[in-house]
Amino acid sequence: MDLKERYVAAAERYDQSEVMYRRCGRSGVLLPQISLGFWKNFGAVDPYERSRAIAHYAFDHGVTHFDLANNYGPPYGTGEETFGRLMDDDFRPYRDELFVSTKAGYDMWSGPYGNLGSRKYLMSSLDQSLRRMRLDYVDLFYSHRYDPDTPLEETLQALVDAVKQGKALYVGISRWPLDALKVAEKYLRERDVPLLIYQGRLNLLDRGPIEEGQLEFCREHGIGFIGFSPLAQGLLTDRYLNGIPDDSRMARDASLKKSALTPELLKKLRELNVQAAEQEKTLAEFALRYVLDQPGVTSVIVGASSVEQLAADLKAIQPEPQD
Ligand SMILES: NC(=O)c1ccc[n+]([C@@H]2O[C@H](COP(=O)([O-])OP(=O)(O)OC[C@H]3O[C@@H](n4cnc5c(N)ncnc54)[C@H](OP(=O)(O)O)[C@@H]3O)[C@@H](O)[C@H]2O)c1
Repeated sequence: MDLKERYVAAAERYDQSEVMYRRCGRSGVLLPQISLGFWKNFGAVDPYERSRAIAHYAFDHGVTHFDLANNYGPPYGTGEETFGRLMDDDFRPYRDELFVSTKAGYDMWSGPYGNLGSRKYLMSSLDQSLRRMRLDYVDLFYSHRYDPDTPLEETLQALVDAVKQGKALYVGISRWPLDALKVAEKYLRERDVPLLIYQGRLNLLDRGPIEEGQLEFCREHGIGFIGFSPLAQGLLTDRYLNGIPDDSRMARDASLKKSALTPELLKKLRELNVQAAEQEKTLAEFALRYVLDQPGVTSVIVGASSVEQLAADLKAIQPEPQD
């Protein structure tokens, strides 16, 4: 799309609302079953017009939730900068229709205050994120990871204060162990900033939050659960069934290592692909349905390097055809 051409969201974007949205725990918030993540494919290294087309396609199809973090890119910060540009170019008129999250927890800037779980880091990082994203507030601010060396109360109070300062509407935590999740649930509830959502990696190859108990705890306590990397970064698609495509994430050998694709894993992926085909599904649809069918799951966050991938992923939430 020509940058000068004004984006107008598709009029039919909420036509599938009944199948698309799920309530997030015991909250007032509905989230799309499929949310869009900005970890990869939205950095300064990626073509802006491609990122823009993916974001448009998402919103035009009812994907109202965009998931970000301070260090998404590469380089760090540029996932949020791309989002800020999208706000200015296209999405500003739709701000109240969007549910935007960001996070702090991993290394972001040098020195002792640019990482982990201190109040100093979280508060500064959120201010930086808002500037990059060109937003007055985010809908959801997360602690991106558990920090064993900072008192949990310090991290959690920073989340509470982000809400009290009007910089975030809701709070979440990601990748915290079950015991720490229990502390967070109680601490936040007692301060009237209830934990909206837990974000954890859940897919056919990694059932951590089921095995470790976070998913069950969330379900029992009215906390939403959102699963990241539901396609195991692309492994649970047709991407690697017959080699490593040049334009794939694995070809870059960074977050998804070539060494991960062992003969055993490839065999398993091919078996899953056969199971998917027996249900007349693609492997991606089968993998997304697996996560979405777990009781307590609100949404999955997918990544996409093309509009076609996102379109294919969205097929997973189409109702089964009736005989
Ligand atoms: N809280 C955390 O610590 C944490 C950690 C990781 C991620 N996240 C969140 O979760 C989001 C999603 O993570 P992810 O990118 O790993 O998710 P994913 O959905 O498991 O993997 C996305 C990748 O799979 C491939 N793909 C997607 N749909 C496809 C299709 N239909 N056919 C073929 N290939 C397809 C693409 O790979 P190619 O790029 O190779 O085309 C795409 O980039 C992130 O953006 C972020 O928001 C959070």
